[in-house]
Amino acid sequence: MRATDIESDLNDVLVTEEQILAKLDEIAARVAADYEGKDLLLVGVLKGAVMVMADFARALPTLVPMDWMAVSSYGAGTKSSGVVQIRKDLDTDLTGKHVLIVEDIIDSGLTLSWLLDNFASRGAASIEVFALLRKPEAAKVHVECKYVGFDIPTDFVVGYGLDYDERYRNLRDVAVLAPHVYS
Ligand code: PRP
Repeated sequence: MRATDIESDLNDVLVTEEQILAKLDEIAARVAADYEGKDLLLVGVLKGAVMVMADFARALPTLVPMDWMAVSSYGAGTKSSGVVQIRKDLDTDLTGKHVLIVEDIIDSGLTLSWLLDNFASRGAASIEVFALLRKPEAAKVHVECKYVGFDIPTDFVVGYGLDYDERYRNLRDVAVLAPHVYS
């Protein structure tokens, strides 16, 4: 589904599918060079990262394993609590692995900050982050992110894995949701 198919639900299109795929090729080339000869493991954070993981992994010129975490951000509390619960842990032992966490978006940074702390004691050789989107003005904690696709404003965005109430994840582009949809 493209942004033009649901025009009345959206305001601006911030990043098109074509721009995303071009950026993934660029970052995949950097990652392939940076991790040459290393035991790389991609870790995706469900569910938002499904699309970026699928396209990014296929943009890489080498075989690479993928694993997944499912976390419930912030439990029953608000987004600012920073409380994260593991709903599905990794199947992979991280010992000696070069881990690249693949995220769709860094908003407040709380999810990734927690995840990086959680991974720190698992014996990985290195842990880095690739986030397709980042909202610098929404940051509550600093997260070291080696690869960033696009910095975007703090608007409510959907598409390419990002949802509003589980909808819009299958939109190919990233767009600002029109306020009439959620207000
Ligand atoms: C989104 C996104 C990140 C997190 C970023 O996940 O996929 O994991 O929020 O926000 P933060 O930087 O403020 O922590 P969400 O909890 O919406 O779950 P989902 O991926 O299943 O949609």
